[in-house]
Amino acid sequence: MKNLLSTRLTVDYPNKPRILGDVELEIAEGEILGLVGESGSGKSTIALALLRLLDHKGGKIHGEILFDGRDLAKLREKEMRKIRGSEIALVLQSPLSSLNPVLKIGTQIAEAWRAHNPGNAKQWKEEALGLFSLVSLPAEPSFLDRYPRQLSVGQAQRVLIAMAILHKPRLLIADEPTSALDAITQSEILELFRRLNRQLNMAMLFISHDLLSVASLCSRIAILQRGQIVECGATEQMFREPRTEDTRALLQAVLRNPFAAQPTELISHG
Ligand SMILES: Nc1ncnc2c1ncn2[C@@H]1O[C@H](COP(=O)(O)OP(=O)(O)O)[C@@H](O)[C@H]1O
Ligand SMILES: [Mg+2]
Repeated sequence: MKNLLSTRLTVDYPNKPRILGDVELEIAEGEILGLVGESGSGKSTIALALLRLLDHKGGKIHGEILFDGRDLAKLREKEMRKIRGSEIALVLQSPLSSLNPVLKIGTQIAEAWRAHNPGNAKQWKEEALGLFSLVSLPAEPSFLDRYPRQLSVGQAQRVLIAMAILHKPRLLIADEPTSALDAITQSEILELFRRLNRQLNMAMLFISHDLLSVASLCSRIAILQRGQIVECGATEQMFREPRTEDTRALLQAVLRNPFAAQPTELISHG
């Protein structure tokens, strides 16, 4: 399959040790790649770097971010703005803090719609309701009048996912999208990602510190350790024969937990 994204990414902050060193990631069209690493390993930095959102934090990118034939690392900010939210979208960890508490859901969706559809501004409601049914939210106009505080956390995450796919992005970056959710809601959201990937043929970078949810969703996994990819390959292969001590330790931590499902039950990929 054709590569949609291919990176060689280095990131530095002024006066700090290197945050990411030559991170190579490849995602094919329609593929879900899992990115796993402990807290502080640089996962969110990768997400922000891919969208070129590090500048205002002082982070500097070197290397390349090839996306559909263009090097995003070299694009002007104006060009990048056209890509963010329309071709590459981002879903974050805490749904309720990602929504503006004083604006109705509908208002926030309308704004997101207009950002890339100025000529077709009136169509947002129709699009929003269509997406609500796709993400299993009530596809009713009254739902658009709700404020974020009137939603459960799971519903808020579904609203954000609907907003993220509003412009049918080719790549969805999900940074710990289930970490703030309870176990049942977590598995529902994972199922939703699986469905969206199939129905929309949307590629995803699924970021998590939780190897088990990643294994249940992704056919390929990259392991990040202190800003370096230490291993990347097919999920099944990695569980069978981890290449590095670090991956082995991650797997053993999973296997030691008697309440965790066994990895073999999770790997449903052929
Ligand atoms: N604005 C910043 N300035 C300097 N260092 C930062 C900044 N943001 C993150 N970092 C550093 O980058 C490293 C990786 O952070 P992050 O990408 O958030 O990790 P993760 O998402 O895997 O938990 C950490 O050591 C963090 O301290
Ligand atoms: Mg993070």
